[in-house]
Amino acid sequence: MEPEDREPKADADARRFGRRELLVRGGVLVGAAGLGGAAGYALARDEGSVGAAPVPTDDDREFALDPAYVNLTTFLLASHPRRVREAIASHRAALDASPPLALREAEPALEDEARAGSAAYLGADPGDVALTDSTTMGLGLVYAGLHLAPGDEVVTTEHDFYATHEALRLRAERDGIAVRRVRLYDDPAAASPGAIADAVAAALTRETRVLAVTWVHSSTGVKLPLADVAEVVAAANRARPDDERILLCVDGIHGFGIEAASPVELGADVFVSGCHKWLFGPRGTGIVWAAPHAWERIAPTIPSFDGQAYVAWMEGRPPTGAAPGPLMTPGGYHSFEHRWALAEAFALHDELGRDEVEAGTHGLATRLKEGLAALPGASVVTPLAPEVSAGLVCCELEAATAGEAVDRLREEHGVLASVTPYATAYLRFGPSIANDEADVDAALDAVRALTA
Ligand SMILES: Cc1ncc(COP(=O)(O)O)c(C=O)c1O
Repeated sequence: MEPEDREPKADADARRFGRRELLVRGGVLVGAAGLGGAAGYALARDEGSVGAAPVPTDDDREFALDPAYVNLTTFLLASHPRRVREAIASHRAALDASPPLALREAEPALEDEARAGSAAYLGADPGDVALTDSTTMGLGLVYAGLHLAPGDEVVTTEHDFYATHEALRLRAERDGIAVRRVRLYDDPAAASPGAIADAVAAALTRETRVLAVTWVHSSTGVKLPLADVAEVVAAANRARPDDERILLCVDGIHGFGIEAASPVELGADVFVSGCHKWLFGPRGTGIVWAAPHAWERIAPTIPSFDGQAYVAWMEGRPPTGAAPGPLMTPGGYHSFEHRWALAEAFALHDELGRDEVEAGTHGLATRLKEGLAALPGASVVTPLAPEVSAGLVCCELEAATAGEAVDRLREEHGVLASVTPYATAYLRFGPSIANDEADVDAALDAVRALTA
């Protein structure tokens, strides 16, 4: 479809946003149990929200996405949902009106609310949650702060993202720890929970202290069977003293906000994620959660602004007694309006229901994978099975490189996708709760035109 053939903008607006209720209800989650049918999310939203009073904005849509495009790139950076936009606007207005008063009135209550929202979503103790600005910041803090002796080994995988590899390289350069990369599958499309668990089991050695993995690989869309991996680690730990236990450390960014099961219940020891992708939190927010036994093995790097740490400093003593999450939360002033609005994202997921969000996101990804698999000249790299996939969908086209396809999809069809930022480049989509089936079908039509 050429750009000029596309729906006139007003019609496209009506299709995507005309029903004032949000895309979430109108699209992915329509008919999903638990949303109360027609009552749906839009009505629930009107009943009130966490934190700041809503500030009216001139954009009343659930997502202020440009209707000229079908955006399938939530995995890069989310468009803020309405309640997050409103909370940010409200906090920003208060900060601009009077920074000291806004700080006095809001801190630490709103930071506590963000931490409590994260903890409730994870099913964890708020004291075990550190707030960060991104996945990358969390990974840097964890891998810099882990107690490791020279010769201790960190096992990571070939499938992890730059941030894990680079954090570990920097650490190894500093103090000589050993880092080993292993391969968990050869053909991503054929990845299976059993084979991945076996590959992990074969990778662990007597020297291994940390297994550094990514929940959903942004290189291929493969989702690790976290519970199975945790079981392998638990088995290896059985005969070990506490300080030699292997910690399962997870970059969870592409599962957090999709998967209904919490990584805490799945058995991670340390879980690191940004909140600004699939979770639809404010840009520049993230978390680190660790189990108490894991926090004992991680030292903070950046001084915290936690009240107890500050008092301890004034009294000339180390901050004993403060909870590890707040102590690991980097201090300094932040873009507070964003951090304070984080609780809104968790409240959104609560309202929608985590099972419904998971089913909706997986449903769109499955529709896209099945549609792509049926196209001659397209091959799907991400597995179809939900046990080993989430929302990311990677594929290859015979007719175009990933880069060419992304450009042509955008320029000729108004479809936004991306290229995987890895040595092997795939065409990558990520349908989310900001999308509906029509978006997936538009992407399929566009790919079909490219492959024809
Ligand atoms: C697996 C993975 N981890 C981390 C990141 C970086 O996330 P953040 O922007 O929150 O640091 C990305 C990509 O953006 C990613 O694909």
